[in-house]
Amino acid sequence: MLQFRQIRHRDFPGHLETPRGIVFSATKDLLPMDDKLVIAMVGLPARGKSTMAWKIARTLEFDDVRVRIFNNGELRRKLTRENTSSPEFFSPRNPTGVEFREKCARINRELAHSYLENDGQVAIIDASNVTRHRRRMIEETFPNIPIFFIECVNVDEEANEACMEHKVSLKEFSHLSPAEAFDSFFKRIAHYESIYEPLHDERNRILVDSFEGCILQERISDVVPYYDRIRDIITTRIVKNLYLVRHGETYFNLEDRIGGDSDLTEKGLAQAQALADYFTDVSIPIIFTSNHKRTMQTASPIAARQKECSIIALPEFNEIHAGICEGMTYQEIREKMPQIANARNRNKYGYVYPEGEGYVTMEKRVHRGLKKVFYLNNYNENIMIVGHRAVNRMILSDFVFRPKEEVPYIYMPQNRYYHLQIDPHKKHFELKPFMKV
Ligand code: F6P
Repeated sequence: MLQFRQIRHRDFPGHLETPRGIVFSATKDLLPMDDKLVIAMVGLPARGKSTMAWKIARTLEFDDVRVRIFNNGELRRKLTRENTSSPEFFSPRNPTGVEFREKCARINRELAHSYLENDGQVAIIDASNVTRHRRRMIEETFPNIPIFFIECVNVDEEANEACMEHKVSLKEFSHLSPAEAFDSFFKRIAHYESIYEPLHDERNRILVDSFEGCILQERISDVVPYYDRIRDIITTRIVKNLYLVRHGETYFNLEDRIGGDSDLTEKGLAQAQALADYFTDVSIPIIFTSNHKRTMQTASPIAARQKECSIIALPEFNEIHAGICEGMTYQEIREKMPQIANARNRNKYGYVYPEGEGYVTMEKRVHRGLKKVFYLNNYNENIMIVGHRAVNRMILSDFVFRPKEEVPYIYMPQNRYYHLQIDPHKKHFELKPFMKV
């Protein structure tokens, strides 16, 4: 049986001014086993609530905390065969829709209640909970258990749009054309916006920018079990499995030419097929690529072999732009522009191609691409990125520390992939083959 020890602020007079009330050590044998907590997510649709809920649940479970998510949307889809994706269903002026959604919310509160009455420790109510009324109902259901509201926002318009684009490509909207689906989802969000009351006087609340992964505001009035741990989880990137793949061989690769938008060779297509075979039994709901043909041609056969898989192309993952050297071979650069070859040789990370990019200038955009990946990926456990040599080096270095000057030399072959696993307890990465050379 795991032991736990609660340390109150009176044990640490220096910390008395903080409102948190309780401090837990992050080590496994000091985590609390008996404390109950209700976490209630708050936010508009497509603002990263479910991803956040999933992240908290998975990590607490790893700490041997018994935690369960109660998702109102999932329950709604289970309780009715009717299609509830029409925006009217979500109108606050539609009594049938309101009644049905209230019913789902009530059932989930009751389920969460009985879970905590039994041996559950943390119940996460994953729903929009945008009205005070809805939040009061939660408070009334759990009068003796602390309630911790986590409000998710995202002010990055582009990420929101990308997220909406992905959501409307899902099964719920498959009966509509892309434009109709977008319109329908947009109207649904507008209905929620029309009744949105941000967190205000709730006793324990935290406002999170779910795209940036940072905390914007917090107020904690009660003793909230696992508080420090949850805070830590919110701001930590958790990667169950990230498969980082480089595109297959291209005609440019054959000639050692850089940049461009070349197609895959026969060997490249065979590599893509081998990847598809290799990952058949691994569920990959989304493959992220760049805008270049070679990454999409590599991703296509993999996606085709999956039950359900979409490809999302992100310009942030485009290969380093070699400016005036685009389309040249390394040999040609050495012969025709030796000053460029030499300068790059001296400082490969810091060198920026004339009219192009360098590793140093790619840093920001690649980092932003990764933020998009985690925002769009929902709570899928497996993520695949099909990128390029330089871009993959930058992606890898975002997770695994390497001195900057070493990053441009990270080995990035086309017949292997990197498998990364990262959570607050471990960081693991491995280069694995998916076919014989
Ligand atoms: O050769 C393939 C390629 O992806 C080029 O398009 C790109 O310029 C290059 O690799 C990046 O590698 P390095 O920084 O080692 O030149």
